[in-house]
Amino acid sequence: MINPIFNRKNLDHFVEVFAKQSTALGEYLEKYVGMHDVNLFQIVKRCNLDITCETMLGVQTNAQEGESEVAKWIDKFSEIMLYRLYKFWYHYDFIFKWTTLYNEGEEFINKYNLFIKDIIKNKDKSVTSESPTLLDFLLDLFANRSELTTDEIVDEIKTFVLAGFDTTTVMSCFVITMLAMHPDIQKRVYDEVLTVLGPERMSDFRDLPCLKYTDLVIKETLRLFPVLPFIAREVLEDLCLDEVITLPKGSLLLLGVIQVHRSAEYWSDPLKFDLDRFLPETATNRHPFTYIPFSAGPMNCIGQKYGKMAFKTIVAILVRKFQFRTEYKTVDEIKLTNKVIVRPRDGFKCSFEMRKKE
Ligand code: HEM
Repeated sequence: MINPIFNRKNLDHFVEVFAKQSTALGEYLEKYVGMHDVNLFQIVKRCNLDITCETMLGVQTNAQEGESEVAKWIDKFSEIMLYRLYKFWYHYDFIFKWTTLYNEGEEFINKYNLFIKDIIKNKDKSVTSESPTLLDFLLDLFANRSELTTDEIVDEIKTFVLAGFDTTTVMSCFVITMLAMHPDIQKRVYDEVLTVLGPERMSDFRDLPCLKYTDLVIKETLRLFPVLPFIAREVLEDLCLDEVITLPKGSLLLLGVIQVHRSAEYWSDPLKFDLDRFLPETATNRHPFTYIPFSAGPMNCIGQKYGKMAFKTIVAILVRKFQFRTEYKTVDEIKLTNKVIVRPRDGFKCSFEMRKKE
């Protein structure tokens, strides 16, 4: 039902916000120039929270300026969720409900619910604004229909915010790390950005499809670092895989996206960062499900276009301004940890200089 609101025309509205916030990020990053081991993730995350709240809800959270209450609730709640996930005894509600973390979590959820409900209450139900948000599109879609209640719309928007900003953040940071590790590729991306955007101009929606080389970089980064490394499913009927293996009904299935993406069976020299894999002539020879960073089928990622447009804008604007370096020499050196979303265990290890204009 909701898929149509993520169409190109609606998403094109958001590129202006992506570009404005990425430019603010660039200004903010200037103070870290020349420093070692900058915590890129935390900084880019604030930018993405501002992007998410502005494009989805129409509110300015000013997380990049360090003032955001919403950022604090979401950070705190994500911490609690992860803590719970890794302590199996807390999976049981009857145990977890006795902890102070449960009470804290509930407090953050309640604040977050109220915050979104308040925004909806104060909204006009039709899309008239010059900068409509995802919430506007959603309310518009359901204005005269009864499929979704207000509580369900609140739930959808909450899901978009949570599903959207951490994934886009990690992805932007991985792309920058790959560029930092491959200076020649970084130079080509810079050249492409300069040709398309020029030295100063903010990007708009017409620019993004022209960044074709940058697209290859993004695709190959998503192969090596699919930010959701596993997809979980419940087997609803006995599922026969071959003569020997049948998955019994009721079992829990974890699909290892990262294993498929790094399997030598499907990818030659799988840990090599190789953009040629995504040239049209090579890509057509592959089984489509050997590359599933956004999953596939009816439950695939609803926000993939939005996400790709957001981190492409961030990367383009940052690469135009800075020259990135990393201590990592090979993909293999980046040891990963799974915090629902995959991240480098030892951080992104990036540093950067102002780019000298050529
Ligand atoms: C790098 C960016 C992203 C990646 C790699 C990614 C990946 C994925 C994957 C693999 C799934 C399927 C999970 C499953 O089947 O269990 C998924 C689902 C989902 N994603 Fe994304 N995602 C990204 C960005 C976003 C953004 C920006 C949004 C919101 C605007 C979003 C919203 C969602 C939602 C709502 C679902 C659940 C769909 C459902 O359950 O039917 N994602 N995503």
